[in-house]
Amino acid sequence: MTGSPRPVGVPSAVAPTAALAAIPGATDELMARVAAGLEAVEARIRVEVDHEDPFIAGASAHLLSSGKRFRPILTLLAAELGDGFGPGVETAATAVELTHLASLYHDDVMDEAEMRRAVVSANAAYGNSTAILVGDLLFGTASRLLAELGPEAVRIQAETFVRLCSGQIRDDHPCPPGTDPVAYYLGVLADKTGVLIATAARYGGMFSGCDDVTCQILESYGEKLGIAFQLADDVLDVTSDESGKEPGTDLREGVDTLPVLYVKASTDPADRRLQELLARDLRDDDAAHAEALALLRAHTAVQRARDYTRQVAEEAQQVLEPLGDGDAVQALRALAAGVVDRTV
Ligand code: IPE
Ligand code: IPE
Ligand code: MG
Ligand code: MG
Ligand code: MG
Repeated sequence: MTGSPRPVGVPSAVAPTAALAAIPGATDELMARVAAGLEAVEARIRVEVDHEDPFIAGASAHLLSSGKRFRPILTLLAAELGDGFGPGVETAATAVELTHLASLYHDDVMDEAEMRRAVVSANAAYGNSTAILVGDLLFGTASRLLAELGPEAVRIQAETFVRLCSGQIRDDHPCPPGTDPVAYYLGVLADKTGVLIATAARYGGMFSGCDDVTCQILESYGEKLGIAFQLADDVLDVTSDESGKEPGTDLREGVDTLPVLYVKASTDPADRRLQELLARDLRDDDAAHAEALALLRAHTAVQRARDYTRQVAEEAQQVLEPLGDGDAVQALRALAAGVVDRTV
């Protein structure tokens, strides 16, 4: 399938700078610096995804007009622990967002998703082959940018990419027999999402002149933050009609997220109907999918999953303790706290 993207009737996309408003712990001065940095990153992203072939340029820019820019914002915030924004930070933040963007192209093929960032997904608009190849192209572009920053940056990107892909591969397969499903799930989250968010934070420290200990703390914080971020995403898959994605996609695709794992493990007879629905292939059964989603939305498992998300977000904040209590640390803490209650 080829052609122009079809618009879909959903709430307007999250503007790229919207996440900035969600850092209540940050001072005005710090936020102004991060906003200025993000503007530069935004411009750089647009330059880097452009292509001489108009079709490739269009397919590469397909998702660009929205998205929270959570990862580049994190890189910019982490850089506030050092010398702040500069050319290296800009390049690293751009590369991190392009890596994330590429992973979204691939993820939507895997998940057979039809909507992303409040527009029709790239796979639905252009077909799977184009979506996969544009994802590859964007990964290549991110690697080229990181090569400007030296072999250490490239090595970190390579290791990040290997873990991200291994998480996505395991996400696409059932938990092996004899393995604890929750432990398996959390391992997948650390790899598919935690590692790139960890790298976003680490690059911010690295390219603003922070010492190795600070960079390691940022990386550990980022990984916990990333796990909390994905836990929240998995709750939003159940609860949100405003995420710019189709609600219940994980449910439809049989991806067992934490609320589903809780229900599956329940011995309460009242859960039998939902358990029976969760055992089915919901991909081609719209009525069963809608019923399962409604039952899950009303289930206490959602609040339990939220509570666990809060716990992981608190662990992320604790990791920052050795860094003191300056403006940047307070903003990083607030960022982690905000992830739990995010609505998009
Ligand atoms: C979506 O990430 C994929 C996950 C790892 C959960 P985001 O929620 O950051 O997506 P955008 O960039 O804002 O669209
Ligand atoms: C995707 O997880 C993680 C990566 C893109 C690596 P999801 O499949 O839950 O992400 P969304 O919900 O489609 O954004
Ligand atoms: Mg997905
Ligand atoms: Mg997925
Ligand atoms: Mg999701």
